[in-house]
Amino acid sequence: MKQLQVGLDDRAYSILIKEGLLLEVGQELKLRQIAKRYIIIADDNVAELFGGHVVESLRKADIPVDLLTFPHGEASKNLATVEKLSRDLARLGVDRQDALIALGGGVTGDITGFLAAIYMRGIPFIQIPTTLLAQVDSSVGGKTGVDIPEGKNLVGCFYQPQCVFIDSAVLSELPREELLNGLAEVVKYGVIYDADFFNFLVANKKSILDLEPAVIEAVIAHCCNIKARVVEADEREADLRRILNYGHTLGHAVEAASNFTIAHGMAISMGMVAVNTLAVKKSLLTEDKAQRVKDVLLGFGLPVDIPPELDRRQMKEFLKSDKKSVGGKPFFILPIQIGKVVITDDVDDALIEEAFG
Ligand SMILES: NC(=O)c1ccc[n+]([C@@H]2O[C@H](COP(=O)([O-])OP(=O)(O)OC[C@H]3O[C@@H](n4cnc5c(N)ncnc54)[C@H](O)[C@@H]3O)[C@@H](O)[C@H]2O)c1
Repeated sequence: MKQLQVGLDDRAYSILIKEGLLLEVGQELKLRQIAKRYIIIADDNVAELFGGHVVESLRKADIPVDLLTFPHGEASKNLATVEKLSRDLARLGVDRQDALIALGGGVTGDITGFLAAIYMRGIPFIQIPTTLLAQVDSSVGGKTGVDIPEGKNLVGCFYQPQCVFIDSAVLSELPREELLNGLAEVVKYGVIYDADFFNFLVANKKSILDLEPAVIEAVIAHCCNIKARVVEADEREADLRRILNYGHTLGHAVEAASNFTIAHGMAISMGMVAVNTLAVKKSLLTEDKAQRVKDVLLGFGLPVDIPPELDRRQMKEFLKSDKKSVGGKPFFILPIQIGKVVITDDVDDALIEEAFG
């Protein structure tokens, strides 16, 4: 078992990574004594695939447990789902002695974390991420929230889990597109923070795509470690944590302009390549390094070119209205070498257009 620590004073927590951990959740929770009873929250897909295993594991450890579900997909990440689940919790008599378990992808983690933060003004919660994206990114760091029609993730708060349990075995069930969504984030960590990790990805491409247990666990642990270090330094995204948005500002514009027909990971991949072009044009990054990043993304089967049919003007509007832009001026995370980036809003409109390709 790999164990990492997120050092946030009184909100510190462990991340445990082990193949087959899903079946040992009960034992681990017994040791930790976080709550008297647990309510698992999962979408319908994940409840069907893994809900039974986790329920069984808690029952074997004599821990009372219930399972609540909601329909899978981003469309459920809203206040109506939070209201529905809150009422379910109230009907089950859930109180502050109890805790929630987010079993699923980033949608489930974001909903459950937010619900845990506001139900009875806060009850503990645990993350059991089941997509690669959630295992390497969204389950760590305490960002929770839901979408409203005016924008994604606009209602939410920072609320850290009590612990994160990661079982790499669940990834074998994951559809390929969902795996690619996670791989885009994995490449991101190498480019923003760690050249050695980037080289590891290049050297182990096939084993990663084949989900070879030792390699995929090493990848997950490495990404969680980077995320933990970044979050420890800047929990509320005042400065350093912004580097995690590398490729995302442009990626979100691509997603939005495609009416969300382009999946998140694909859009982020295109976004990373486009900001690398910006960095090259600003003479911050050499062309051969930008090419190396492109090659890795292509090697994983991720797209790198923004489709020509997407409306560039619309994309520029999305960039300006992005919730992370300041005074209508978007900021960009630009690599200066592999493993090191700078944060800047000093980018001309004309240059942005060129980077769109
Ligand atoms: N909080 C954060 O820091 C943070 C960071 C990045 C992304 N996010 C959020 O995460 C969300 C995206 O997360 P996601 O990509 O995990 O999507 P998701 O939770 O919708 O999961 C994707 C799909 O995979 C299914 N699934 C999950 N695990 C599975 C498994 N092991 N096998 C088979 N199917 C499985 C789900 O049922 C769902 O249909 C977005 O809402 C995004 O805003 C949050």
